[in-house]
This record gives sequence, structure tokens and C-alpha cells, in this order.
Amino acid sequence: MSKSKIVFVCQNCGATAAKWMGKCPVCNEWNTYAEESIAQGPGPDRERDKLTGFRNNLTPPTLIGDIPNESTQRIDTLDPELNRVLGGGIVPGSIVLLGGDPGIGKSTLLLQLALNLKNKKILYVSGEESMAQISMRASRIGIKNHSCYIYTETNTQSIFKYTHELQPDLIIIDSIQTLQTSYSDSPPGSLSQLRECTSELQRLAKDSGIAVFIIGHITKEGLIAGPKVLEHIVDVVLQFEGEKHYAYRMLRTIKNRFGSTLQLGIYEMQHCGLRPVLNPSEVLLTQRDENLSGIAIASTMEGDRPLLIETQALVSPAFYGTPQRSATGFDSRRLSMLLAVLEKRVGFSFGTRDVFLNMAGGLQIEDPAVDLAIVAALLSSYEDIPVSNKSVFIGEVGLSGEVRAVSRIEQRISEAAKLGFNTIYISKYNMKIFNEDKDSLNIIPLGRVQELSEMLFSK
Ligand code: TYD
Ligand code: MG
Repeated sequence: MSKSKIVFVCQNCGATAAKWMGKCPVCNEWNTYAEESIAQGPGPDRERDKLTGFRNNLTPPTLIGDIPNESTQRIDTLDPELNRVLGGGIVPGSIVLLGGDPGIGKSTLLLQLALNLKNKKILYVSGEESMAQISMRASRIGIKNHSCYIYTETNTQSIFKYTHELQPDLIIIDSIQTLQTSYSDSPPGSLSQLRECTSELQRLAKDSGIAVFIIGHITKEGLIAGPKVLEHIVDVVLQFEGEKHYAYRMLRTIKNRFGSTLQLGIYEMQHCGLRPVLNPSEVLLTQRDENLSGIAIASTMEGDRPLLIETQALVSPAFYGTPQRSATGFDSRRLSMLLAVLEKRVGFSFGTRDVFLNMAGGLQIEDPAVDLAIVAALLSSYEDIPVSNKSVFIGEVGLSGEVRAVSRIEQRISEAAKLGFNTIYISKYNMKIFNEDKDSLNIIPLGRVQELSEMLFSK
């Protein structure tokens, strides 16, 4: 090995400096610099070309037509939700980073994947848990797989040795923060170790055609540790999220070189592992027979899938000081904007009232098409008059109170029709695009939010 050099590395953004600094000039974070040593010089790189044991000589330039096609054959994970977020299965030779809070179920998800793939050879490397703990989890999941190897190791060179010996189709690393390469002297979990280990794994994936899944913890700020550094190296970044106290877990695609981002998979954590939720709308709509005030059904697109979701609002007189505004699963600034629109354009007075808003199921909704449902729920709670539980509201609300058109209206409407809703409020600007014959549905076009309040509450 050649000599190494001491540098100071920002653990947030990866910027380097020759001396310690209190504030990072690149990302403006405080107290993020840590001392690390990096190997330098041309020597180790030569040596490291042979590192993974798979590439003996470099591949020469090849004509695009001569590249064999089977390398893009995807592996079916037998899990419809995971297939969807990956864009249709695992691409051989790809490297996937799975991030998420501790305890959310990352190890469970990937162990389940390893156990499901019965006709593939899998190497599950854990630096976090003992073999006994993993076997306990496997018996909890209750699937037997005779081609899944468990290896508790943190040194990348040892992992490569056994990879070469076993020739698996898939390697799972739990977690990248525990790995260590002999080519860096920094402690495990530091940014230069993360970067070195991830690029070694990437080299392994590309040289050998083995798919690699890496688990990464996320930092307090909700980012995968060393976010910019790692996200650039890997092919796919998935984020596993959800409220710990709800059973539902959301798997989101943040980056995907082989498919669309914005995809969402939904799971339910059960006593025997994670169960894919195949009909999410039915889960996100609470079962109720009677009409209650303050509830309206919204439609949101998560990737290419429309979901119906219940929005609940509570508007009540504020007795103490400043009225409260609280939103769960929705941006609170957007809620304030909608309240201001109702105040100014429709003449409701929220200034002396507390407002609470809740999106059912613990989902964080960013689709602006839910605005109209939120407005309906707010007005319904304000007036204490229920809206029909057979209605769905689809539309974005603009600053002057206009109801704006939203994307993919046909898909949203057919999802609502499928689930038995019969009245759908949409923007009148969506009517032009929407020309399908839907006799059984009552589709109500709206131009402004005033019309909604008149339609719902003036009987
Ligand atoms: P785990 O996969 O260890 O989380 P992570 O790797 O993201 O830290 O999951 C931990 C939680 O999941 C733990 O609280 C126990 C729970 N769990 C179940 O509810 N059912 C199960 O079948 C399994 C395996 C775990
Ligand atoms: Mg774990």
C-alpha cells in the first residue's frame, strides 16, 4: 500500500479541506468535519483492479450491436411491490441502496427477498447481527431456502473472497455503515469508508454481473448517510419509510437508472414479516357506514398508480391565544395557503379557529390534486355538515380560488369508479380532456372553490 494523506471531510456533503473547519463552506452545516486518511498514488489502483477477483483484463471497446442482450434480463423478486419500485425486477450487475430509519424493516425486507428467491444463489452479509439472530428472523418469516448463505463479516476483501468461491446471483449487505476496506484507515461508518466500500461493491457488481443490495442507515436529518456521495455511485436508491406506530411501510424509488422514480410500494408489517399491500386504496379508506363531517376522499398519484385516500379535518373555535394549525401527512404551509384562499375568496373566517388536518394511513402526500378534498373536508368540518361518502374530490386549488386541472384524470376517475364512488368533483378544465363515456358516474365540473361550497352546503 502507498502512503496515505490526512484530510478533513464534511460528513454531510463530502467536501474536503486541508484543515478542520467549524462550518462547511459548501453545505453550510456546522461541526460536520472529521479527520480521515485517504490512500493516494497510482499504486493501489493497479492492485485494486484485481480486487474483486472477477476482472483479470480490461474489456476492450465493443460495438453497441455486439453487446449481448441477456445482461438486461431482470430477476423477478416474486414480490409485486419490490418489482414495481425496481422498475420490473432486479437488473443483474446493478447496485441498489436501501435507506431507512432503524427498526423500519430494512433487514426484514431483504431477508425476505433472499428467502423468496429459491432458484438463485444468495449471499446475505451481515455486520449488524449474529447468525443466530438472522436465523431467528428467518424462522419468523417462515420461508425455507436452501440456496441462501449467511455470512457475518465486515471486511470487504473477505466478502470478495467468498463471493468468488460461491458465485452467487445476489449479494445483500446489511449494512454499508459496518463495512470496512483495508484500503482506507478511517473508522467504519466514516464518509471515506462508505465511499470506498461502495465503490468496491460497485466494481464487483459491474465486473461479475452479480446484483448487490446495500442497506444504509439514514441520519437524523432523514438523509442516507453521505447522501450525495453514495447516491451517485449506486444505480437505484430506495427509501423505506413509515410511522413506526403504524403497521404500514412505504418503499419509494428516489433514483433509478433502469426505470421511473416516483414509484411507491406499500407493505404491512405483520408478525411473520412484511406483506405486500396490493389494493392500497381499500386500506387508506377507513370503513364507515355513516356520514361524518370533516371527511373527504382525495385522489393522489403515487408513481403510475392512483390511490384514494381519506382526508380528515377538524375546525374548532380557538379559546387560547394564537389558533393552532397542525397537519399530518401534508405540508403545513400549503394548508395555510388553502385556509387563506378560503378566507379571502369564499369568506370563511378561520382566524379564530384551530385547524387540524390528517391524511389517513401515515402517508406523506405531495400531489397538489388533493387540495380540493382538503378544502371540502375543511368546509365540511367548519359547517359541521357531512359530505356524501360516495364523493371523491380531485383538483388543485390556485391562489385566486380557481380549481385547476390535474394530470392523469382518467386513471384517477376509473380508480374511484372501481371502488364504488359515484360522484366526482373535478376541475372544469379537466372536462375538455376527459371525453370517455361514464354514464353511471356523476362528474361535476368546478371552476372556483366558491362553487364547491355552494354545491355542498346550500340545500
Ligand atoms: P428490522 O428489519 O430489524 O429493521 P431495520 O433492519 O430497518 O433496522 O425490523 C425490525 C422491526 O420489525 C422490529 O421492531 C420487529 C419487527 N418485525 C415484525 O413485526 N415482524 C416480523 O416478522 C419481523 C421479522 C420483524
Ligand atoms: Mg437491520
